Amino acid sequence: MTMELAIETRGLTKMFEDKLAVNALDLKVVKGSIYGFLGLNGAGKTTTIKMLLNLVYPTSGEAFVLGHDVVKDSVKIREKVGFVPEESHLYDYMRVSELIDFCRAIYSNWQVREVGRYLDLFELPLGKKVKELSKGMKNQLNLVLALGAGPELVILDEPTGGLDPVKTRDFFRVILEQVAEIGQTVFFSSHRLHEVERVADTVGIIHKGKLVFSKSLDDIKTNLKKIRVVFSEETSIAGLEKMPGVNMIKRQGRGYILECDGSVEQVKAKLNELNPVDIEVIDVGLEDVFMRYTGGGGDG
Ligand SMILES: Nc1ncnc2c1ncn2[C@@H]1O[C@H](COP(=O)(O)OP(=O)(O)OP(=O)(O)O)[C@@H](O)[C@H]1O
Ligand SMILES: [Mg+2]
Repeated sequence: MTMELAIETRGLTKMFEDKLAVNALDLKVVKGSIYGFLGLNGAGKTTTIKMLLNLVYPTSGEAFVLGHDVVKDSVKIREKVGFVPEESHLYDYMRVSELIDFCRAIYSNWQVREVGRYLDLFELPLGKKVKELSKGMKNQLNLVLALGAGPELVILDEPTGGLDPVKTRDFFRVILEQVAEIGQTVFFSSHRLHEVERVADTVGIIHKGKLVFSKSLDDIKTNLKKIRVVFSEETSIAGLEKMPGVNMIKRQGRGYILECDGSVEQVKAKLNELNPVDIEVIDVGLEDVFMRYTGGGGDG
């Protein structure tokens, strides 16, 4: 069965002169999911998002958002997608209340009740001009406006960059509530691993323009494990690296760390045949996964 996709890219590529910013990206975001798009600074997240919204023209490959071609049908996409950019592009001279009224007038599907609720939650000062708001407040306002239009898909480019921990929690509560209520799809970029781990149900990692990892968080929790094994004397475990499910083996003192993707019990049984003095299965968190695939670190 093929799941319905909110976003699909095939070989999507962007060259800026001689810089390969996005490299043959094959991305699949299932409808109704909350997809965390992770990557280091400069990995290609914003460039990918801009191609989805036809703000940057792909060098090659193709992409579909809600079934529409991003280049040919960008107008239809804009009608159905709420977008919160990395940097705010709001009308600075308008008051918050004027901006809300303005959007309410242009969007046929404006969610009056929800917008009221979000404005209360964020305690946004309705009488202030947009240019008088802090960076975090502008982020919140952007989110309210993006969700207010009642979009099928919300695309957020590092949405919580300027938010304090309390507002970050409120921000995601709003999103999660709305998703639960109307089955929206959310695609958001981030390098805050804890945030992604808490909110997303699916995670993709982009590294140097390539999608190096894409899995559901459930799958990560159930299948990705580390086995730490210690022997009383020098013991070779040669051959185990070829066992299905074993990704990588590292030496550690008189033992080894085996990074596994599935088949943990079989691998453990095999190791037990070698009479270890200690053997332990350790859960792998998103941080381990991120480090493994980027060779670097997040900031969260
Ligand atoms: N308009 C542009 N002209 C030239 N190079 C660009 C342009 N926009 C982005 N790049 C380059 O493309 C690469 C990807 O940038 P992008 O902004 O997509 O990264 P990002 O993953 O969003 O990073 P960050 O986490 O810092 O926001 C970087 O090397 C960047 O310097
Ligand atoms: Mg970016």
